[in-house]
Amino acid sequence: MATRMKLKLKTVFVLYFMVSLLGLIYALMQLGQRCDCTEHDIPKDRTISRLRGELHRLQEQIRKSEATKQPQKPPARQPTVFVITPTYARLVQKAELTRLSQTFLHVPQLHWIVVEDSPHKTPLVTDLLVKSGVTYTHLHMPTAKDRKLQEGDPSWLKPRGVEQRNEGLRWLREDRRAQPGGDNQQGVVYFADDDNTYSLQIFEEMRSTQRVSVWPVGLVGGMKYERPVVEGGKVVRFHTGWRPSRPFPMDMAGFAVSLKLVLSNPEACFDGEAPMGFLESSFLQGLVTMDELEPKADNCSKVLVWHTRTEKPKMKREEALHAQGLGSDPAVEV
Ligand code: UGA
Ligand code: MN
Repeated sequence: MATRMKLKLKTVFVLYFMVSLLGLIYALMQLGQRCDCTEHDIPKDRTISRLRGELHRLQEQIRKSEATKQPQKPPARQPTVFVITPTYARLVQKAELTRLSQTFLHVPQLHWIVVEDSPHKTPLVTDLLVKSGVTYTHLHMPTAKDRKLQEGDPSWLKPRGVEQRNEGLRWLREDRRAQPGGDNQQGVVYFADDDNTYSLQIFEEMRSTQRVSVWPVGLVGGMKYERPVVEGGKVVRFHTGWRPSRPFPMDMAGFAVSLKLVLSNPEACFDGEAPMGFLESSFLQGLVTMDELEPKADNCSKVLVWHTRTEKPKMKREEALHAQGLGSDPAVEV
């Protein structure tokens, strides 16, 4: 009985072995053979011939359009942003102007009008502008002695950059009159102090200014930001911590004026005699009403420019070394 069982088991094993071997041999034979892939190729072939047809059609279209090509008009030029910057000699001047020029390099169609508060153009600014790569005009206009802040004066005592901005306006009005062509009045005027921080987006916001556009300014007037408050698309009041009753309680960095408006109001300028905080209003008052202001920066809900102020560098060690005859080499320009 036991021997029969053994025999049967052996037969089962042998049979199992034979079947597996046959299976393996069959599989190995299949490996070497080419498969009949026509079924797989059909959709691929169809796609290729469809794409070929499309390519042919497009080539035909290009050929036809080239044959009938008209001389094309150059794309309409976007309005130039004229940026007027007053600047004066001090230790941080080169750093400020370097940062500013490198921001402006990223702005298309920008013309920088740099006005030095100086009786002559200085080599430092001249050289910096030449190397800057920015389109610029270099002017100078010294602040009258009695209007100039003296060493130790608090900064709010007298307005700053007034004669320089007015000189920039004078140049712009004269230059535009001298420019022939229809689009010499297309543009926007912006007053950019040399120490503020400007996002690139603010220049694109202001480019579409029709009369006067406005937006928030960060870190100004002892606040996180000041801004025009917009309701129903119109400026209805100003969010400011100081004398909101001023006609335009805004910082210089918070508005731009269309070139057309500047040219059609040849008398509009900054009043150096204006009381503190009224400098911006002295220029804007005759140009626009609050109702006409064009809010930018998402209805004045975004801060895109900051009234940053650079700390005056301390020179205590420099002076101490200088007294010992070991001061820095004056030939090294800072
Ligand atoms: C604030 C405003 O942001 C200015 O736009 C405004 O002119 C000034 O107050 C004011 O009330 O007069 P603030 O930071 O206090 O600005 O002024 P600064 O940045 O010191 O000066 C404004 C501009 O005038 C700068 O571009 C600066 O380089 C220039 N400036 C300053 C001169 O050209 N000469 C000077 O003697 C001083
Ligand atoms: Mn400043």
